[in-house]
Amino acid sequence: MRIRDFGVEIWMNRWEDHCRYNLAETCVDSVTVAELLALAGLDAEAFAASLLPMRLTYGAIEGSPRLRAAIAALYERAAASDILVTHGAIGANHLAYQAVVEPGDIVVSIVPTYQQHTSIPESLGARVRPLHLREMNGWLPDLDELRELAVGAKVIALVNPNNPTGSLLDGATLDAIAAIAREQGAWVIADEVYRGLDQDGAGTSPSMADRYERTIAVGSMSKAFSLAGLRLGWINAPAAVREAANRHRDYSVISVGMVDDLLASIALEAHEALLARNRAIVRGNLETLDAWVAAEPRISYAKPRSGTIALLRLDTPMTSEAFCTGLTETESVLFTPGSAMDMEGYLRIGYANSPQVLRDGLARTSAYLATLGR
Ligand SMILES: Cc1ncc(COP(=O)(O)O)c(C=O)c1O
Repeated sequence: MRIRDFGVEIWMNRWEDHCRYNLAETCVDSVTVAELLALAGLDAEAFAASLLPMRLTYGAIEGSPRLRAAIAALYERAAASDILVTHGAIGANHLAYQAVVEPGDIVVSIVPTYQQHTSIPESLGARVRPLHLREMNGWLPDLDELRELAVGAKVIALVNPNNPTGSLLDGATLDAIAAIAREQGAWVIADEVYRGLDQDGAGTSPSMADRYERTIAVGSMSKAFSLAGLRLGWINAPAAVREAANRHRDYSVISVGMVDDLLASIALEAHEALLARNRAIVRGNLETLDAWVAAEPRISYAKPRSGTIALLRLDTPMTSEAFCTGLTETESVLFTPGSAMDMEGYLRIGYANSPQVLRDGLARTSAYLATLGR
């Protein structure tokens, strides 16, 4: 199977372990096991003692009932049986496309996006129609354009909150997209790994799964829950999709690890405490980033509304890759170049690292910017 190179992953693999200030990281500052247990109100020694007699079998194949119930509780309408546990959201997205896309199908993908949502359907023989978000519209989709592109579509794919722009589709927009999808009988693949990190209000916006019956919602422990080390994600979808996904999952997953399943259950049962910690980080850090953008004449952006990521417009004659390579080589600060996501002229920043790393990384980026001629 031929598939396009995954631009962002190739960039991260090349540089991630060679920088001091990782502003390409898109997870909220990860927690330790000890911090997780403390947030969940559990005693570390008692937890360790309960772990020791655990027999390390494959465990529950589709995810433990405890874990699936804790995931279902993140939605208004889901039951534990609606949830299929996967190897990260990266595994969930892969299975979602394998489950529903056939050669020749039309997939409308809202871009810029996480590249899985264009390259996997392409590799499966689908015709991918991109719906381009524009900065002047606050990186929100033009619904008339979507209505036109969606004619005959099997799937509409979106990332909400969006990677890489940080824009957020509100409930009314989700309903409008649902109406467009319903007219076509299309599935919506809604990658919601950044859900729960809104800048305003209570912090968690609606899931597409609660607004549209043909939704395949994807979630993960990595981003909003700051536990990428668990490598655990999920699909919340109707039975027909879960069954089709399972036929592929038998070949690629079997089950996720029992220890990952247990720690994810503990984390999600304490999701309010974990999200409160993580929202405090993204809200404080966005203030830092916002002040920096305002003070840097060559950087501008549409301020993110949710998630951990912003897309910065760069006003220099350099390519985004040359800028980012120079920055990491001279200042050990890592951004992701827009070119890695077909967005030349932009830089992607993950602003959810520890507040100190963000402050120091931005100060060094200012020093680097000051050395560049116009
Ligand atoms: C939008 C989006 N979906 C899925 C993933 C994969 O996440 P996971 O760590 O759960 O596999 C990422 C990771 O960057 C992402 O940004």
